[in-house]
Amino acid sequence: MNSQRNRFSLFRNKSCSFVIFFVVVQHAHGDLSYSVQEELKPGSVIGNVAKDLGLEMGRLSVRKARVDMEGNDRQYCGINLRSGDLFVTERIDREEHCGEKPSCVLKFDLVLENPLELHRLSLQVQDINDNVPVFPKDVVKLEIRESAVKGARYRINAAHDADIGKNSVQSYTLQQNPHFVFSIQTTSAGSKYGELVLDKELDREEQREMKLLLTAVDGGSPQRSGTVVIHVIVLDANDNAPVFSETVYKTSLPENSPVQTPVITVSATDADEGVNGEVTYEFSRLPDKSRRLFSLDAKTGEISVTGDIDYEEGSKYEIFVEAKDGYGLSSEAKVIIDITDVNDNAPVIYLKSLINPIPENVSPGTEVGIINVQDRDSEKNGQVRCSIQQNVPFKLVPSIKNYYSVVSTGQLDRELVSDYNITITATDEGSPPLSSSKSVQLSVADINDNPPVFEEQSYSAYVSENNKAGSTLCSVTARDPDWRQNGTVVYSLLAGEVNGAPVSSYVSVNGDTGVIHAVRSFDYEQLRSFKVQVMARDNGSPPLSSNVTVSVFISDVNDNCPQILYPAPEGNSFMTELVPKAAHGGSLVSKVIAVDADSGQNAWLSYHIVKSTDPGLFTIGVHSGEIRTQRDISESDSMKQNLIVAVKDNGQPSLSATCSMYLLISDNLAEVPELKDMSYDEKNSKLTSYLIIALVCVSTFFLTFIIIILGVRFCRRRKPRLLFDGAVAIPSAYLPPNYADVDGTGTLRSTYNYDAYLTTGSRTSDFKFVTSYNDNTLPADQTLRKSPSDFVDAFGDCAESPEVGAIPYLYTRLTTLFALHYGLGFVFLVLHPVFGDVSYSIPEERKRGYVIGNIAKDLGLDPGQLS
Ligand SMILES: *[C@@H]1O[C@H](CO)[C@@H](O)[C@H](O)[C@H]1NC(C)=O
Ligand SMILES: *[C@@H]1O[C@H](CO)[C@@H](O)[C@H](O)[C@H]1NC(C)=O
Ligand SMILES: *[C@@H]1O[C@H](CO)[C@@H](O)[C@H](O)[C@H]1NC(C)=O
Repeated sequence: MNSQRNRFSLFRNKSCSFVIFFVVVQHAHGDLSYSVQEELKPGSVIGNVAKDLGLEMGRLSVRKARVDMEGNDRQYCGINLRSGDLFVTERIDREEHCGEKPSCVLKFDLVLENPLELHRLSLQVQDINDNVPVFPKDVVKLEIRESAVKGARYRINAAHDADIGKNSVQSYTLQQNPHFVFSIQTTSAGSKYGELVLDKELDREEQREMKLLLTAVDGGSPQRSGTVVIHVIVLDANDNAPVFSETVYKTSLPENSPVQTPVITVSATDADEGVNGEVTYEFSRLPDKSRRLFSLDAKTGEISVTGDIDYEEGSKYEIFVEAKDGYGLSSEAKVIIDITDVNDNAPVIYLKSLINPIPENVSPGTEVGIINVQDRDSEKNGQVRCSIQQNVPFKLVPSIKNYYSVVSTGQLDRELVSDYNITITATDEGSPPLSSSKSVQLSVADINDNPPVFEEQSYSAYVSENNKAGSTLCSVTARDPDWRQNGTVVYSLLAGEVNGAPVSSYVSVNGDTGVIHAVRSFDYEQLRSFKVQVMARDNGSPPLSSNVTVSVFISDVNDNCPQILYPAPEGNSFMTELVPKAAHGGSLVSKVIAVDADSGQNAWLSYHIVKSTDPGLFTIGVHSGEIRTQRDISESDSMKQNLIVAVKDNGQPSLSATCSMYLLISDNLAEVPELKDMSYDEKNSKLTSYLIIALVCVSTFFLTFIIIILGVRFCRRRKPRLLFDGAVAIPSAYLPPNYADVDGTGTLRSTYNYDAYLTTGSRTSDFKFVTSYNDNTLPADQTLRKSPSDFVDAFGDCAESPEVGAIPYLYTRLTTLFALHYGLGFVFLVLHPVFGDVSYSIPEERKRGYVIGNIAKDLGLDPGQLS
């Protein structure tokens, strides 16, 4: 291998003094020239391009180096992109390319891309002795008169060797014989021929014919040779050889001339007569290529076309024609046929390089591809203009020689146009011009340049409260026109808080579909609306995203019953209203107060009396809840009046609550004992009755005892004393509270206290309550600001459980009864009817609510048992 490589010497510009110049030229598209032997095996290395161009090894593949042969599809040599070696890829036959031309140079373009760079690469093909000398015929027949004198010359066509230089024919050797010698002559046109020279006269009687072997040898190594037999027939006489009218005939022939087109007619004349003057023509020496194209009429000397004449295959033919007379005397003429070019080759467009697909973000002016245009015709017929169709954002920029760059002219957008069909048209300047076009398909590759865009600026979802967890609220959609994962949208919730809890505990979003689900059941009374941020993100890298706000509005459902605040629900406490007997028709008696946690229609309450002791006596304001007398109270009306009031909201369906209201038509608190019958259950009132009976008995006994004592004393002192002033005052204590304070006595004050405590929900406190209630809670939209518990607080005792409420009530009763005996200063009570005595002492002038003692404890009872 090494020795082989040494044989191909790189010959730069012959003289050493040009080496520096050569280097300079090289950088400005310098030419490279190598010399190579013909007939080398494929793979043989010719030289190193990378080294000779001063390029780093790796750059060759980056710049897509390659070798193209001008105007030829065949390759002959290639570049090893790794090593930079130029090597043979196909058999190179010097004779095929260059024929007899002394210098045979193949020209290549060495193309480097990015930027496009072109180097001329010439390959000097050197001859090797691969052809033998060949005579046109195997046997040459010569007829020579015996009268021929010494020195007579007879023409013999020379042997031809396709090789050139010293590999061509160098010498001839004629077989040893007594009569002839061989000599070589050169014509004025430069071609060689041989002559048989008569050295010793012939004698037909001695020898009628002879065969001589003529050998031609070339100067190659090893030497090759070819032979011809010269057959000499000795005749009686012959005079003149034929003479051509011209030594060189010239003509021109357009290419593509049809078969049998006459090209030229040669003619030779012979001065002899008869057989000696009959001239025939034949090709003396003709390359195989020409033999297929032309034929010669032996009689007329007309040369005509027998094959396809193609200018591109051969533009000039040299043909040798021999004229012979009947006895073998001959002469030769040369015919030169020039083929004229016809515009028969359309330009051919080669796509040399293409970036496909091309990213959509390339800047305008980017080189996308390289094309090369070739037209095999010559001169004007081979001059080509190239163009690109109008409506694409690409243009052709002429580059070196017949190379063009395809360059983008604008911003590409895959989302608008994803594929281009670029049609390039090449037209030559012949007449008529020929053109061809090539369609180049170019795809635009996606870049993640579009964020997902929501179809709407914001989304609203409406949901009724008490929804099921997992129910669908709404769905968001974002579009991303990018390709595949760059356009795949994934939805997610952005972290945030609703009422202090993470938003993910309220809603969730389906990442693929954008459907938003409720995670829990919503309660309108707690949360009326909230907002969540949803992000749509594509899967590109880096990903792009956009956000959208989703407002969730919860609508009210009538899920809360009206809640009656006054009167307290049945059994809760003793709610009784006192209606003065003198009340006129239309007077306000009481008011039912209710709230509803819902809102709007669902909280719009209406009040109805569903049942009453005397249907005609009371009415209720449908929306105010105020209970009024419908007519004047008459004596015949029952003292106890019961009303059952229903409170309904206006929802669909509506919810309701009922309450009972006890009204007592009375002006006098003395009627109180009857009160308890209707307001307290049996168990409770029984105990009270026992207590009172016990008290009365004890008191009676005690009084009797005192009366007896006093009676004894009175009898002694004779001055009686009013003992019962306190007791006498009692009836007046049962006046309505409004009147109670008129009298400023302690007794009255005490009874007033009793009344006030007894009817916590009575008119006085009632109206106080209504005032505050109206101020704070009636406006519909503010209703919800107060939770039911707020109201409970506001009413304090009202909400107490029956058990707890009973004990102060009992104490109240006792306090009242003790007050009956106020005048006595202190009282000793023995209350327990069965088990024993309980005794308390109480100082005078104690405040209302003052605790005297604990009966339950003292009796050994559970507090619950008391009630
Ligand atoms: C591009 O050309 C090809 C074939 O020449 C054809 O199938 C295709 O539809 C063309 N595309 C456009 C966008 O014109
Ligand atoms: C998505 O875009 C990136 C650049 O943003 C690109 O490299 C990638 O090839 C694109 N993917 C597809 C499937 O087109
Ligand atoms: C969406 O919201 C997130 C979090 O607040 C933020 O980081 C991101 O930049 C936002 N995206 C857009 C497109 O506004």
